[in-house]
Amino acid sequence: MLRNELTKADIVARYLPKKLIAVDQAEAFAPSNIALCKYWGKRQNELNLPVNSSLSVSLAHLGSHTQIRPATSGEDQVILNGQVLTADTPFAAKVISFVNLFRGQQNYPLIVDTRNNIPTAAGLASSASGFAALTLALNQYFQLALPDTVLSAFARMGSGSASRSVFTGFVEWRMGQQEDGMDSHAFPLDVSWPDLRVGLVKVSSAQKAVDSRAGMKRTVETSGLYQSWPAQAARDLETIHQALIDDDFSQLGATAEHNAMSMHATMIASWPPLLYWQAESVAAMQRVWALREAGVEVYFTMDAGPNLKLLFKAKDQLLLETEFPDLEVVAPFAEDSKTNLASESVNA
Ligand code: ADP
Ligand code: DP6
Ligand code: CO
Repeated sequence: MLRNELTKADIVARYLPKKLIAVDQAEAFAPSNIALCKYWGKRQNELNLPVNSSLSVSLAHLGSHTQIRPATSGEDQVILNGQVLTADTPFAAKVISFVNLFRGQQNYPLIVDTRNNIPTAAGLASSASGFAALTLALNQYFQLALPDTVLSAFARMGSGSASRSVFTGFVEWRMGQQEDGMDSHAFPLDVSWPDLRVGLVKVSSAQKAVDSRAGMKRTVETSGLYQSWPAQAARDLETIHQALIDDDFSQLGATAEHNAMSMHATMIASWPPLLYWQAESVAAMQRVWALREAGVEVYFTMDAGPNLKLLFKAKDQLLLETEFPDLEVVAPFAEDSKTNLASESVNA
């Protein structure tokens, strides 16, 4: 951190009452999200302030479910998928330091019990759903009733992509320009595409060797191609906006795929090189291109991991399930996934 730089704790403290009052327990769900125009690179590390704005689609029922309750033992405890983690694991340490932003010096030993129904740290955006669910649960636990945009900015301080997981459907995270980052938050776009499907091609669920945080730092610091990224991302964001207005699936899919490949190009040109792909990832890309040649409207996007996410329309689902036998298909705009999670958690 630079001298005189605002800390996360300074910022969160402004929004808290002097004395926190906790409820008996709180729980929240947040969906994972897949960026169609990616966040890659920070202009400020402490607050996770991005170099560029980004846009995503939420993954409906896939994400994190987090419960907070008091720790009667007096010791904090973090549980991931039913397994108690010791306080010195990086996962538990990150959760506890995020909780500390909220409880400050006040004595509230907690159990944070979280479940991911997507693989953790495998490029399927568990940091997005994880920190969004934790933020929403803390908001309830301490009865903060914070506005959605503040919750999004707080989630961003846990993990940048989490700013978008506070909402459902298509979500845009504007990079903002304020020093305290409070204008760097997401908001939901008023567009619904009931026919859109996202298919997860799981190449590997193993934890990635270089996490997103370290990967983007290395890219910004060493990749000669990174200088072209901010302008590319700005153009792609505009094109995707227009595609949403025009109801133009092909434009949205093609731009998302091009944006993902451009981001990966910046990664590959880092030193040491960053290649999140495996042989099976490339084989899956080639299958997508062959299907497109044959007239099937399918596109892919990829994050910091070997798994592909396919974008296609409901009418092609059967065909794609045949081509990719283990495809997990999500309908982001299904009736039951339209609620605004932040407001829901305030009212709960
Ligand atoms: P991913 O591609 O899954 O987002 P990242 O490297 O960005 O991978 O982030 C993984 C990190 O996100 C984990 O090491 C952990 O710190 C955090 N994380 C994942 N799931 C949760 C959760 N349910 N609650 C809190 N933090 C989580
Ligand atoms: C490739 O949000 O995981 O998935 O802010 O350091 O926690 P931190 O990184 P993270 O980065 C996500 C990168 C990405 C693209 C995206 O989701 O926009
Ligand atoms: Co992540």
